[in-house]
Amino acid sequence: MIPTVKLPDGTAVPALGQGTWFMGETPGQAKAEVAALREGIELGLTLIDTAEMYAEGGAERVVGEAIAGQRQRVFLVSKVYPHNASATGTAKACAASLKRLGTDCIDLYLLHWRGGYPLAETVAAFERLREAGQLRYWGVSNLDTDEMAELESVSPAGACATNQVLYNVGERGIEFDLLPWCRKRNMPIMAYSPLGQAGALLRSPALADVARRHGATPAQVALAWSLRDGATISIPKAGTLAHVRQNVAAAALKLTAENFAAIDSVHKPPGGKLPLAML
Ligand SMILES: NC(=O)c1ccc[n+]([C@@H]2O[C@H](COP(=O)([O-])OP(=O)(O)OC[C@H]3O[C@@H](n4cnc5c(N)ncnc54)[C@H](OP(=O)(O)O)[C@@H]3O)[C@@H](O)[C@H]2O)c1
Repeated sequence: MIPTVKLPDGTAVPALGQGTWFMGETPGQAKAEVAALREGIELGLTLIDTAEMYAEGGAERVVGEAIAGQRQRVFLVSKVYPHNASATGTAKACAASLKRLGTDCIDLYLLHWRGGYPLAETVAAFERLREAGQLRYWGVSNLDTDEMAELESVSPAGACATNQVLYNVGERGIEFDLLPWCRKRNMPIMAYSPLGQAGALLRSPALADVARRHGATPAQVALAWSLRDGATISIPKAGTLAHVRQNVAAAALKLTAENFAAIDSVHKPPGGKLPLAML
Protein backbone atom coordinates (compact mmCIF):
# COMPACT_ATOMS: atom_id res chain seq x y z
CA MET A 1 0.00 0.00 0.00
CA ILE A 2 1.49 3.33 -1.05
CA PRO A 3 0.95 6.10 1.53
CA THR A 4 -0.72 9.31 0.48
CA VAL A 5 -0.02 13.00 0.98
CA LYS A 6 -2.59 15.76 1.01
CA LEU A 7 -2.56 18.71 -1.36
CA PRO A 8 -3.52 22.07 0.23
CA ASP A 9 -7.22 21.46 -0.62
CA GLY A 10 -7.17 18.08 1.13
CA THR A 11 -7.02 15.91 -2.00
CA ALA A 12 -4.91 12.80 -1.40
CA VAL A 13 -2.20 11.83 -3.89
CA PRO A 14 0.40 9.04 -3.70
CA ALA A 15 3.45 10.00 -1.63
CA LEU A 16 5.66 7.84 -3.84
CA GLY A 17 5.52 8.36 -7.59
CA GLN A 18 7.63 7.87 -10.69
CA GLY A 19 10.04 10.31 -12.33
CA THR A 20 10.77 10.28 -16.05
CA TRP A 21 13.85 12.45 -16.65
CA PHE A 22 16.03 10.79 -19.34
CA MET A 23 13.16 8.63 -20.55
CA GLY A 24 12.26 9.00 -24.21
CA GLU A 25 15.85 9.82 -25.19
CA THR A 26 16.60 6.55 -26.97
CA PRO A 27 13.94 4.96 -29.20
CA GLY A 28 15.27 1.46 -28.48
CA GLN A 29 14.60 1.90 -24.78
CA ALA A 30 11.05 3.21 -25.00
CA LYS A 31 9.47 -0.23 -24.69
CA ALA A 32 11.31 -0.98 -21.45
CA GLU A 33 10.51 2.49 -20.10
CA VAL A 34 6.80 2.04 -20.84
CA ALA A 35 6.92 -1.38 -19.17
CA ALA A 36 8.61 0.08 -16.08
CA LEU A 37 6.03 2.86 -15.76
CA ARG A 38 3.16 0.39 -16.24
CA GLU A 39 4.59 -1.91 -13.59
CA GLY A 40 4.80 1.07 -11.26
CA ILE A 41 1.16 1.97 -11.93
CA GLU A 42 0.11 -1.64 -11.26
CA LEU A 43 1.94 -1.55 -7.92
CA GLY A 44 0.47 1.79 -6.82
CA LEU A 45 2.99 4.35 -8.08
CA THR A 46 0.21 6.14 -9.91
CA LEU A 47 1.69 9.65 -9.65
CA ILE A 48 3.91 10.25 -12.69
CA ASP A 49 6.17 13.27 -13.05
CA THR A 50 7.30 14.47 -16.46
CA ALA A 51 8.08 17.72 -18.31
CA GLU A 52 8.09 19.16 -21.79
CA MET A 53 11.86 19.51 -21.33
CA TYR A 54 12.58 15.81 -20.89
CA ALA A 55 13.86 14.53 -24.25
CA GLU A 56 12.08 17.59 -25.72
CA GLY A 57 8.69 15.92 -25.45
CA GLY A 58 10.02 12.36 -25.74
CA ALA A 59 9.38 11.55 -22.08
CA GLU A 60 5.80 12.82 -22.32
CA ARG A 61 5.27 10.52 -25.31
CA VAL A 62 6.56 7.56 -23.30
CA VAL A 63 4.22 8.50 -20.44
CA GLY A 64 1.35 8.86 -22.93
CA GLU A 65 1.96 5.33 -24.10
CA ALA A 66 2.24 3.99 -20.56
CA ILE A 67 -1.06 5.52 -19.44
CA ALA A 68 -3.02 4.80 -22.62
CA GLY A 69 -6.26 3.08 -21.65
CA GLN A 70 -5.76 3.79 -17.94
CA ARG A 71 -5.60 7.58 -17.74
CA GLN A 72 -8.06 7.69 -14.83
CA ARG A 73 -5.74 5.68 -12.59
CA VAL A 74 -2.93 8.19 -12.87
CA PHE A 75 -2.15 11.56 -11.27
CA LEU A 76 -0.21 13.23 -14.05
CA VAL A 77 2.35 15.96 -13.39
CA SER A 78 4.10 17.93 -16.13
CA LYS A 79 6.05 21.17 -16.38
CA VAL A 80 6.32 24.19 -18.61
CA TYR A 81 9.71 25.59 -19.61
CA PRO A 82 10.30 29.07 -18.11
CA HIS A 83 10.84 30.48 -21.60
CA ASN A 84 7.33 29.29 -22.52
CA ALA A 85 5.67 30.54 -19.33
CA SER A 86 4.11 33.71 -20.78
CA ALA A 87 0.38 34.43 -21.08
CA THR A 88 0.07 32.79 -24.50
CA GLY A 89 3.17 30.56 -24.36
CA THR A 90 1.89 28.65 -21.31
CA ALA A 91 -1.37 27.75 -23.05
CA LYS A 92 0.49 26.69 -26.18
CA ALA A 93 2.99 24.57 -24.25
CA CYS A 94 0.19 22.97 -22.23
CA ALA A 95 -1.72 22.10 -25.40
CA ALA A 96 1.41 20.44 -26.86
CA SER A 97 2.00 18.48 -23.63
CA LEU A 98 -1.64 17.32 -23.56
CA LYS A 99 -1.28 16.06 -27.11
CA ARG A 100 1.92 14.14 -26.39
CA LEU A 101 0.41 12.70 -23.21
CA GLY A 102 -2.75 11.69 -25.04
CA THR A 103 -5.08 13.32 -22.53
CA ASP A 104 -7.24 16.41 -22.20
CA CYS A 105 -6.21 17.31 -18.66
CA ILE A 106 -2.94 17.44 -16.71
CA ASP A 107 -3.52 16.91 -12.98
CA LEU A 108 -0.67 19.16 -11.85
CA TYR A 109 1.21 21.58 -14.05
CA LEU A 110 4.41 23.20 -12.77
CA LEU A 111 6.61 26.13 -13.74
CA HIS A 112 9.88 24.18 -14.16
CA TRP A 113 12.08 26.94 -12.75
CA ARG A 114 11.93 30.69 -12.58
CA GLY A 115 12.59 32.51 -15.83
CA GLY A 116 12.10 35.96 -17.27
CA TYR A 117 8.30 36.18 -17.25
CA PRO A 118 6.67 37.77 -14.18
CA LEU A 119 5.24 35.14 -11.82
CA ALA A 120 1.89 36.98 -11.97
CA GLU A 121 1.70 36.40 -15.74
CA THR A 122 2.39 32.66 -15.39
CA VAL A 123 -0.07 32.35 -12.50
CA ALA A 124 -2.79 34.07 -14.54
CA ALA A 125 -2.10 31.68 -17.43
CA PHE A 126 -2.28 28.67 -15.07
CA GLU A 127 -5.57 29.94 -13.63
CA ARG A 128 -7.07 30.29 -17.11
CA LEU A 129 -6.03 26.74 -17.99
CA ARG A 130 -7.52 25.50 -14.72
CA GLU A 131 -10.81 27.25 -15.41
CA ALA A 132 -10.80 25.74 -18.92
CA GLY A 133 -10.34 22.25 -17.43
CA GLN A 134 -6.96 21.63 -19.03
CA LEU A 135 -5.27 21.32 -15.66
CA ARG A 136 -6.57 20.55 -12.18
CA TYR A 137 -3.80 22.04 -10.05
CA TRP A 138 -0.74 24.13 -10.68
CA GLY A 139 2.50 24.61 -8.82
CA VAL A 140 6.14 25.53 -9.19
CA SER A 141 9.57 23.97 -9.11
CA ASN A 142 12.98 25.20 -7.95
CA LEU A 143 11.65 28.31 -6.18
CA ASP A 144 13.33 29.38 -2.94
CA THR A 145 11.50 30.81 0.08
CA ASP A 146 11.65 34.48 -0.97
CA GLU A 147 10.32 33.55 -4.41
CA MET A 148 7.53 31.51 -2.82
CA ALA A 149 6.51 34.57 -0.80
CA GLU A 150 6.48 36.62 -3.99
CA LEU A 151 4.42 33.93 -5.72
CA GLU A 152 1.96 33.89 -2.84
CA SER A 153 1.48 37.65 -3.19
CA VAL A 154 0.31 37.26 -6.82
CA SER A 155 -1.73 34.03 -6.44
CA PRO A 156 -5.28 33.28 -5.30
CA ALA A 157 -5.17 32.01 -1.71
CA GLY A 158 -4.01 28.40 -1.48
CA ALA A 159 -3.74 28.06 -5.26
CA CYS A 160 -0.17 26.80 -5.52
CA ALA A 161 -0.33 23.04 -4.87
CA THR A 162 3.37 22.26 -4.50
CA ASN A 163 6.98 23.27 -4.95
CA GLN A 164 9.11 20.55 -6.55
CA VAL A 165 12.69 20.80 -5.32
CA LEU A 166 15.92 18.84 -5.03
CA TYR A 167 15.66 16.95 -1.74
CA ASN A 168 17.43 13.84 -0.58
CA VAL A 169 19.55 12.57 2.31
CA GLY A 170 22.55 14.43 0.91
CA GLU A 171 20.75 17.68 -0.01
CA ARG A 172 18.88 18.92 3.04
CA GLY A 173 19.18 22.69 2.71
CA ILE A 174 15.41 23.21 2.36
CA GLU A 175 14.86 21.92 5.90
CA PHE A 176 16.04 25.27 7.26
CA ASP A 177 13.29 27.55 5.91
CA LEU A 178 11.63 26.45 2.65
CA LEU A 179 10.22 23.23 4.09
CA PRO A 180 8.75 24.91 7.20
CA TRP A 181 7.35 27.70 4.98
CA CYS A 182 5.50 25.11 2.85
CA ARG A 183 4.40 23.07 5.90
CA LYS A 184 2.82 26.16 7.42
CA ARG A 185 0.61 26.39 4.32
CA ASN A 186 -0.20 22.66 4.14
CA MET A 187 1.67 22.61 0.85
CA PRO A 188 3.48 19.32 0.23
CA ILE A 189 6.83 19.52 -1.47
CA MET A 190 7.82 17.15 -4.25
CA ALA A 191 11.30 15.74 -3.65
CA TYR A 192 13.15 15.30 -6.91
CA SER A 193 16.28 13.16 -7.31
CA PRO A 194 15.45 11.37 -4.02
CA LEU A 195 18.12 8.79 -4.89
CA GLY A 196 20.72 11.43 -5.69
CA GLN A 197 20.56 10.18 -9.28
CA ALA A 198 22.10 6.90 -8.10
CA GLY A 199 25.47 8.58 -7.58
CA ALA A 200 27.64 8.91 -4.47
CA LEU A 201 24.61 9.02 -2.18
CA LEU A 202 23.84 5.35 -2.75
CA ARG A 203 27.41 4.52 -1.66
CA SER A 204 26.94 6.34 1.66
CA PRO A 205 28.19 4.09 4.49
CA ALA A 206 25.46 5.53 6.73
CA LEU A 207 22.74 4.43 4.31
CA ALA A 208 24.47 1.08 3.79
CA ASP A 209 24.56 0.45 7.53
CA VAL A 210 20.88 1.25 8.05
CA ALA A 211 20.03 -0.80 4.96
CA ARG A 212 21.86 -3.83 6.35
CA ARG A 213 19.85 -3.64 9.56
CA HIS A 214 16.59 -3.84 7.59
CA GLY A 215 17.70 -6.29 4.89
CA ALA A 216 17.07 -3.45 2.47
CA THR A 217 19.17 -1.51 -0.06
CA PRO A 218 20.63 1.99 0.42
CA ALA A 219 18.22 3.22 -2.28
CA GLN A 220 15.27 1.89 -0.32
CA VAL A 221 16.51 3.61 2.84
CA ALA A 222 16.92 6.88 0.90
CA LEU A 223 13.31 6.61 -0.30
CA ALA A 224 11.91 5.65 3.11
CA TRP A 225 13.79 8.64 4.55
CA SER A 226 12.26 10.96 1.94
CA LEU A 227 8.75 9.78 2.87
CA ARG A 228 9.27 10.08 6.62
CA ASP A 229 7.19 13.19 7.34
CA GLY A 230 3.97 12.31 5.49
CA ALA A 231 4.07 15.64 3.67
CA THR A 232 6.54 14.93 0.89
CA ILE A 233 5.91 13.40 -2.53
CA SER A 234 9.00 11.48 -3.61
CA ILE A 235 9.46 10.81 -7.32
CA PRO A 236 12.34 8.40 -8.02
CA LYS A 237 12.96 7.57 -11.65
CA ALA A 238 13.32 3.85 -12.35
CA GLY A 239 13.85 2.42 -15.79
CA THR A 240 13.84 -1.26 -14.84
CA LEU A 241 11.17 -3.53 -13.37
CA ALA A 242 13.53 -4.58 -10.59
CA HIS A 243 14.10 -0.97 -9.50
CA VAL A 244 10.38 -0.19 -9.67
CA ARG A 245 9.60 -3.16 -7.41
CA GLN A 246 12.35 -2.24 -4.95
CA ASN A 247 11.05 1.32 -4.81
CA VAL A 248 7.51 0.14 -4.12
CA ALA A 249 8.81 -2.04 -1.28
CA ALA A 250 10.62 0.99 0.18
CA ALA A 251 7.26 2.58 0.98
CA ALA A 252 6.72 -0.13 3.62
CA LEU A 253 10.14 0.32 5.20
CA LYS A 254 9.82 1.92 8.63
CA LEU A 255 12.99 3.60 9.81
CA THR A 256 13.57 3.87 13.56
CA ALA A 257 14.61 6.91 15.60
CA GLU A 258 18.02 5.25 15.88
CA ASN A 259 18.23 4.94 12.09
CA PHE A 260 17.36 8.62 11.62
CA ALA A 261 19.98 9.61 14.20
CA ALA A 262 22.62 7.49 12.44
CA ILE A 263 21.78 9.16 9.12
CA ASP A 264 21.73 12.65 10.70
CA SER A 265 25.17 12.15 12.20
CA VAL A 266 26.67 11.81 8.72
CA HIS A 267 24.21 13.67 6.49
CA LYS A 268 23.58 16.61 8.77
CA PRO A 269 20.51 18.84 8.66
CA PRO A 270 21.36 22.47 7.73
CA GLY A 271 22.57 24.78 10.47
CA GLY A 272 21.49 27.93 8.60
CA LYS A 273 20.15 29.29 5.35
CA LEU A 274 21.70 27.79 2.22
CA PRO A 275 20.97 28.84 -1.36
CA LEU A 276 18.39 26.51 -2.90
CA ALA A 277 20.25 23.59 -4.50
CA MET A 278 19.01 22.52 -7.90
CA LEU A 279 20.06 20.38 -10.85
N1 LIG B 1 11.93 19.85 -11.28
C1 LIG B 1 13.18 19.63 -11.59
O1 LIG B 1 13.95 20.56 -11.87
C2 LIG B 1 13.68 18.22 -11.58
C3 LIG B 1 15.08 17.96 -11.59
C4 LIG B 1 15.49 16.63 -11.55
C5 LIG B 1 14.56 15.61 -11.50
N2 LIG B 1 13.22 15.88 -11.53
C6 LIG B 1 12.20 14.79 -11.51
O2 LIG B 1 12.53 13.90 -10.44
C7 LIG B 1 12.70 12.59 -10.95
C8 LIG B 1 13.72 11.82 -10.13
O3 LIG B 1 14.98 12.44 -10.14
P1 LIG B 1 16.21 11.91 -11.02
O4 LIG B 1 15.71 11.12 -12.17
O5 LIG B 1 17.05 13.11 -11.28
O6 LIG B 1 17.05 11.01 -10.03
P2 LIG B 1 16.72 9.84 -8.99
O7 LIG B 1 15.32 9.42 -9.04
O8 LIG B 1 17.32 10.26 -7.69
O9 LIG B 1 17.67 8.68 -9.54
C9 LIG B 1 17.42 8.01 -10.73
C10 LIG B 1 18.49 6.93 -10.88
O10 LIG B 1 18.32 5.99 -9.81
C11 LIG B 1 18.30 4.67 -10.34
N3 LIG B 1 17.39 3.87 -9.50
C12 LIG B 1 16.04 3.89 -9.45
N4 LIG B 1 15.59 3.03 -8.52
C13 LIG B 1 16.67 2.45 -7.97
C14 LIG B 1 16.86 1.47 -6.96
N5 LIG B 1 15.82 0.92 -6.31
N6 LIG B 1 18.14 1.10 -6.66
C15 LIG B 1 19.20 1.66 -7.29
N7 LIG B 1 19.09 2.59 -8.25
C16 LIG B 1 17.83 2.99 -8.58
C17 LIG B 1 17.79 4.82 -11.75
O11 LIG B 1 18.27 3.76 -12.53
P3 LIG B 1 17.36 3.02 -13.65
O12 LIG B 1 16.78 4.10 -14.50
O13 LIG B 1 18.34 2.15 -14.33
O14 LIG B 1 16.31 2.25 -12.93
C18 LIG B 1 18.40 6.16 -12.17
O15 LIG B 1 19.73 5.96 -12.60
C19 LIG B 1 13.14 12.85 -12.40
O16 LIG B 1 13.09 11.69 -13.19
C20 LIG B 1 12.19 13.94 -12.78
O17 LIG B 1 10.90 13.43 -13.04
C21 LIG B 1 12.78 17.18 -11.54
